[in-house]
Amino acid sequence: MKEAFSKREISNRQFSETALKTIQNMLDRKDYHKIPHSLLDVNDPLIKNGLGDRAGTADGRYDQFHKKSRVQWHDTMKRLVGKNKIAEIIESSAENICLQLNRLGASPTGIDPRRIFMNGSMNVTSGFAFGLNYDFQDPEFTKIAEYIDGYFAGLMHYNLKQVCSNIVPSWVNESDYYNQIWRKTPVRHFEDAVPQFHGYVFEIIKEQRKTLDPSNPRNYLDTLLIDAETEPKWGYFTAAATIIGIFLGASDTLANTMTWLSMILADHPDVQQKVFEEIKAARSMDTDLKKENCPFTRSVLLESRRLNPVTDTLIHMVSEDTKIKGFTFPKNSQILGSLTAIMHDPKNFREPSKFIPDRFIDENGEFVNDPKVCGFSVGLRNCIGKSLAIEEYFVFATTLVENFEIKRLAGNMDIEAHPFLRIPKDDIRLQFISRTKPNELLTK
Ligand code: HEM
Repeated sequence: MKEAFSKREISNRQFSETALKTIQNMLDRKDYHKIPHSLLDVNDPLIKNGLGDRAGTADGRYDQFHKKSRVQWHDTMKRLVGKNKIAEIIESSAENICLQLNRLGASPTGIDPRRIFMNGSMNVTSGFAFGLNYDFQDPEFTKIAEYIDGYFAGLMHYNLKQVCSNIVPSWVNESDYYNQIWRKTPVRHFEDAVPQFHGYVFEIIKEQRKTLDPSNPRNYLDTLLIDAETEPKWGYFTAAATIIGIFLGASDTLANTMTWLSMILADHPDVQQKVFEEIKAARSMDTDLKKENCPFTRSVLLESRRLNPVTDTLIHMVSEDTKIKGFTFPKNSQILGSLTAIMHDPKNFREPSKFIPDRFIDENGEFVNDPKVCGFSVGLRNCIGKSLAIEEYFVFATTLVENFEIKRLAGNMDIEAHPFLRIPKDDIRLQFISRTKPNELLTK
């Protein structure tokens, strides 16, 4: 899979003319264009550049523009890490998670913590993308979560519609009747969320423009706005869809990763206690928790990600006939690579279905990473948020164990039937019992 996904020809998402036309039709039907035009100045580079040529960085061909947008992302990360900004945002999000769990987590009937973890991840994303740190109760923040829910509710059907657009004649694709039939499916949730979520991003763009300093980008959106001055591919739709893509990529993935970990820890109280003690000891060495002082914790975190990956790859599209190891991948075919299969293969991991907490500890007691745990995918189109997610996961998880004892009241490790995510079933109920007095979080 690594060899295939390292090839440019296999590292594309949807790029056909018809798939683009389907998007444009949907935007026209929603009267979408008036939103950016009513909020942004007529001379704004995003308006001058028009719609753009793809639905954001997570879409389209693997070309120079895509590569550039990934480089911009990584440069922004480095800059914010250099200024300690990322650490600040992640820590404040972790504290907010704890405050919510302090309030709700000890409920005698237990809670499903996914929304709380998702809030934490969304807040890191909004900090990275816009420099905004939300209070989780902020109505604007709640709205973002609703838009994300709308996208996910219709995403599978929307992808199917795009696939069909490559098959049906263009006159069918564009007919009102055909599109009305699709509106009877969950596609409508997706289509309704698009103008709402984009509208929110355009409002932010309008505000951020007022204080933009081209020589000093403050966040990821700033870098896009500055690049749009000279890069015509940053149209208003492409820019907003890129920002939304990172909210979508970051939210359910991290929330479910944290939820699987909470379930594992609840079911293995001995492991939970050992992690707690390791963190306590590491904290006594240095108030800033150092990863190198937490080998067992890191091994548990990695093992939980290996055992319960939250997703396989997104669809890769083949742009030219490509031969790998004697197999031909024909042009325009669509490929889904199973990361789960790699991580559950006995050739790669002994007893792969078993939770082995110290699987990644060597004979000297040191943590050893294993690249075969590849939940962020491999190759040219791998997860752009990998390093951010790994950092978030470590801080969220250690803050959680430091402050709460986790118990499971209901549910099990069964997987919900879901088209592209591997998520726990809906009936889980966990209890988070505070280890400290209320309002006395240990990270403070
Ligand atoms: C535990 C957390 C996460 C997991 C397991 C995960 C996993 C993945 C996977 C499997 C892909 C598809 C790769 C492929 O098709 O080959 C992907 C793509 C992507 N992820 Fe993540 N992700 C996580 C967190 C994040 C975060 C925090 C962000 C952003 C802040 C993010 C943004 C994206 C984007 C934008 C893409 C599309 C990249 C492209 O098409 O070039 N993800 N992720």
